[in-house]
Amino acid sequence: MINALEWRYATKKFDDERKIDSTKIELIKKAFNLTPTSYGLQPLRLVIVKEQSIKDRLFKHSYNQIQVKSASHVLIICIENTIDAEFINHNFELQKEIRDVNDETVKPFKEFLLKDFGNKSEQHIHNWAINQAYLALGNLLTVCASEKIDACPMEGFDPKAYDDILKLNDKGISSALVLPIGYRAKDDKFADFKKVRRPQEETIIEY
Ligand SMILES: Cc1cc2nc3c(=O)[nH]c(=O)nc-3n(C[C@H](O)[C@H](O)[C@H](O)COP(=O)(O)O)c2cc1C
Repeated sequence: MINALEWRYATKKFDDERKIDSTKIELIKKAFNLTPTSYGLQPLRLVIVKEQSIKDRLFKHSYNQIQVKSASHVLIICIENTIDAEFINHNFELQKEIRDVNDETVKPFKEFLLKDFGNKSEQHIHNWAINQAYLALGNLLTVCASEKIDACPMEGFDPKAYDDILKLNDKGISSALVLPIGYRAKDDKFADFKKVRRPQEETIIEY
């Protein structure tokens, strides 16, 4: 695992001739969906763009960062716009179905969550959902590294423009983070840069 984490880097230029095959894309979809989330509510969706003309449009709204244009696929981690009682109830219906449990079993936790979320501001819930998007990003970065897929985690894009281009509001979601994936270009000079990390003695505290 450490070899994989040392191998990976924030890829700035992908080989635009090399595409990720559909088996690996299926694996990435599964890994995204397996990301653990707070309360298991999964306030997330993943948009996958492989169409070049869309990648070209997104590139212009990503500070012209070439990784968006040259990637095999651009993943956009999105959050749900509406996380209300209906959304929470839906999750418990799923739980009942999958675990074959009844209303009585899920009732205490469901009521706690409905009350808890009911008392939270929209901004608070939005920030909570964004935190879950970062978790999915971390998970996907590690999965990509272990599969020898290159990736670049990105906050540097215009979420409003992405939402417009991909018509995300129609789906009730908003873009939170971007992850172009593919295979590094031979001339991506960033591939040879040494990793810069604070010394471990400085970042780890042990009692
Ligand atoms: C949340 C997040 C957002 C980032 N946004 C960008 C970005 O917009 N463009 C970019 O080139 N790199 C971006 N990076 C990459 C970081 O600069 C990079 O991960 C960091 O310098 C460590 O280098 P390494 O990933 O090559 O080990 C981002 C990284 C993270 C985790």
